[in-house]
Amino acid sequence: MTVHFIGAGPGAADLITLRGRDLIASCPVCLYAGSLVPDEILSHCPEGARIVNTAPLDLDAIVTECKAAAEAGHDVARIHSGDLSVWSAMGEQIRRLRAEGIDVSVTPGVPSFAAAAAALESELTLPGLTQSVVLTRTPGRASSMPDGETLANFAATGATLAIHLSIGNLDNVANELTPYYGAECPVAVVYRASWPDQEIIRTTLATLPKDVPDHVTRTALILVGPALAAQGFEESALYSTDYDRRYRPQSAESPWSSWRHGDD
Ligand SMILES: C[S@@+](CC[C@H](N)C(=O)[O-])C[C@H]1O[C@@H](n2cnc3c(N)ncnc32)[C@H](O)[C@@H]1O
Repeated sequence: MTVHFIGAGPGAADLITLRGRDLIASCPVCLYAGSLVPDEILSHCPEGARIVNTAPLDLDAIVTECKAAAEAGHDVARIHSGDLSVWSAMGEQIRRLRAEGIDVSVTPGVPSFAAAAAALESELTLPGLTQSVVLTRTPGRASSMPDGETLANFAATGATLAIHLSIGNLDNVANELTPYYGAECPVAVVYRASWPDQEIIRTTLATLPKDVPDHVTRTALILVGPALAAQGFEESALYSTDYDRRYRPQSAESPWSSWRHGDD
């Protein structure tokens, strides 16, 4: 018996992996994390499956569900939205399940920052401009941030920031980032990326707090950085015509040129 942790992706039902879908279809028990997992994903559960929304449950109750499934010899599909590697509470569940002697597996999902970038049709790492993306958040009611993991510290690097769980904190985001990126730095807020009611708000740090409409109160990602509106960036070496690559040799001197041009 195994508890299969499955990333369900950002919302669109067809943004789950084939492996995730097939695992859900094979498990007689499905525990899913609230309203961010769409009904179409749950429709992959087999006929008669026990399907439990864990939003109102505490960790003890979730472990109790898994232990009951283990006693019955039933595999469990444990579904979280997005990917499991960030803000999924998977770590504490796996620790408790291992202590109970229950096996686990992990199947990744499309994270919300990737869905938001796709909605914007943007590459977040542009040559000569920024080569890093920081996935972060600001402190919430129930969660403080470790010392050092401040927006200001991340901003000092100039990286593209993907700020989660912070749509209620727009003034602080703008105030903390403006000294580093400048008031005109482009910002994109993507609300419910990949859902049918997805919205994109393109703004700047100067206008961020007033440009986000009142109904955007959760499930939104704030992307900040020059890559979001850049046009004059360099082209990457990857596809340049004079870049000598092992599998795309260009020059006569290349040790692989015979592969491309033929020996005779
Ligand atoms: C608890 S975290 C979960 C993150 C998730 N594990 C992931 O892979 O993205 C929830 C936050 O992720 C972001 N988020 C999740 N789904 C989103 C979506 N479809 N569109 C925009 N932001 C989303 C929001 O910032 C939200 O407050």
